[in-house]
Amino acid sequence: MKILNFGSINIDNVYHVDDFVKPGETKKSLSFQVFPGGKGLNQSVALARAGAAVYHAGKIGPDGQWLADLMKTSGVDTALVEKAKCDTGKAIIQVSDTGQNAIILYEGANQEMDRKYIERVLDQFCAGDILVLQNEINLVPEMIELARQRGLKIALNPSPANEVIHQCDLSKIQWLLLNEVEGEWMTGKKEPEEICRELLKAYPNMEVVLTLGSQGVLYQSAEKKCFQKAFKVDAVDTTGAGDTFTGYFLRCVSEGETPEKALRLASKAASIAVSRAGAAVSIPYWSEVVREEEPGR
Ligand code: RIB
Repeated sequence: MKILNFGSINIDNVYHVDDFVKPGETKKSLSFQVFPGGKGLNQSVALARAGAAVYHAGKIGPDGQWLADLMKTSGVDTALVEKAKCDTGKAIIQVSDTGQNAIILYEGANQEMDRKYIERVLDQFCAGDILVLQNEINLVPEMIELARQRGLKIALNPSPANEVIHQCDLSKIQWLLLNEVEGEWMTGKKEPEEICRELLKAYPNMEVVLTLGSQGVLYQSAEKKCFQKAFKVDAVDTTGAGDTFTGYFLRCVSEGETPEKALRLASKAASIAVSRAGAAVSIPYWSEVVREEEPGR
């Protein structure tokens, strides 16, 4: 069983600020750093560092080779990553003193997927393999159709939530991993339980994984419901925490672990990631997560 992540690749320009800039305000940042990022790249790095065999497909511009190299160093197979003529995707990220973030995206090469490329990539995979998607590249609804035709199982992180998600056939999704904001946007409901209930009413075969920030995470399917409290940590930078969670969760369930164990390990991995600066570079390796997760620590 192989895992294909068709996803975004960004250069994260990160400004540390005491508080987010307000309309009309100009403020100095406390520091500036450039990091590898993009929800797709982060999730592939998390999958690989968790020990999964993961293949990343997506596009970079002439300025993005170092991002593919970073994925490769983490253990991701990058042979399917292609070069576009336009710039690599970019993110301008403010990180506040409390570790919260605010992100502006420039899509760049992330919007350069086309049907021939998608088919070429999907032809390398077969029934039972897993496709991981986020919503930072173009043609996500088409990828869902083409992947299901080939019998792949699909995990979708509908982030950022926008009208493209409404064009996706969500009945074809096995795992939906989302946060409360995305959950409210998709269902109109605010309460976590209600969000899960609405999604399962519409898509009974789906497994919903709803992250609730510092509260924890709720898992619900037709058969099972479980909750994992978040591990307490002093947040330095929450950027990429959800991506770390997604990668670890999918690695665990794809190896046959129970949802309870997957939630616990993924939550531990995310808590380690938020205690460090940057997105992809903050993602821990499996050995560290398992060591930290030992009972009694
Ligand atoms: O999820 C975090 C990521 O969102 C950042 O790395 C940034 O690139 C944006 O895509």
